[in-house]
Amino acid sequence: MKQPGLFDIQISDISSTMLLTLYTHAIESQSKNPIINDPKAVEITSALNHQMVNSPDRMYRELGNGKLDKKLVVFIALRAQKYDDYSSEFLKQSPTGTIVNLGCGLDTRFWRIDNGKTQFYDLDLPEVISIKKNLCNETDRYHMIASSVLDYKWMEDLKKQGTGPFLFLAEGLFMYLEKNAVKNLVIKLQSEFPGSELACEVVNESVVSGQLKGALKIKMQKRHHLGQGAAFISGLTNGHEIESWSPGIRLLDEWSHFDTNEKKLGWVRLYGKIPAMRRVQWTVHYKLGQARDVNTVKS
Ligand SMILES: C[S@@+](CC[C@H](N)C(=O)[O-])C[C@H]1O[C@@H](n2cnc3c(N)ncnc32)[C@H](O)[C@@H]1O
Repeated sequence: MKQPGLFDIQISDISSTMLLTLYTHAIESQSKNPIINDPKAVEITSALNHQMVNSPDRMYRELGNGKLDKKLVVFIALRAQKYDDYSSEFLKQSPTGTIVNLGCGLDTRFWRIDNGKTQFYDLDLPEVISIKKNLCNETDRYHMIASSVLDYKWMEDLKKQGTGPFLFLAEGLFMYLEKNAVKNLVIKLQSEFPGSELACEVVNESVVSGQLKGALKIKMQKRHHLGQGAAFISGLTNGHEIESWSPGIRLLDEWSHFDTNEKKLGWVRLYGKIPAMRRVQWTVHYKLGQARDVNTVKS
């Protein structure tokens, strides 16, 4: 648990990773040739900075002082831009569609992609939403849902409010949840919102069970000063695995950071030449079509 309070609210090690992504968006936005333009993230980090630099927590202090791994900034900015693209593409097809940002953290996607018509929902744990409500205002089209994504009541409430079509985004979330929980969640999304789309970031199973597990833990905890609880616990063998969870789920496309050939990645781009490296941590995009049988899920 990260003790020191942002607004005196205690958040878990997993939730504290949202500060890392928020600061990367702000830092990248202010860089030369930015990958992402996120003035709202700059505004929020300015509001938080006093607390961050004076925090007893090392990660918070380093973020507040702008000390962030340059490659990590590029990776996270590219990812955010890709999810913005998914959102904009979806809104081109369905300008009044509903976008639900699962495990939103302090991300400010609504302000980056708003077309003036969409209904946008940011969902995260209640303590995170309490913090976010101090920093962002809800409107008639921007809403916050304070709930675990795994507490399905939010879906009932959403169905009462929105007519869809729906796009669900899960950027930096599924790898922190138990695999069976992710599987049940995806199947539940399909049954409650048939015809919707889901774009979600996943990691390879080898990252959570194999040799890469130790290396990743060292990187996250020693290099980025994340707490012990911020560990990846579930992954996929490949992007088609989710299709096998229920009839009607169809893989639309997959995306890796290396698909961009972004110059700011520098020598790291060489890793992209190794096919396996493109599927260590990547994004999968599905159509959650009508299922024949969605009620029984076995692990
Ligand atoms: C790595 S952060 C990503 C935040 C945001 N998507 C971004 O890219 O900036 C992970 C987020 O998942 C949220 N989270 C973790 N478990 C959750 C759950 N069961 N329900 C909803 N959100 C959850 C955390 O609170 C945190 O905000």
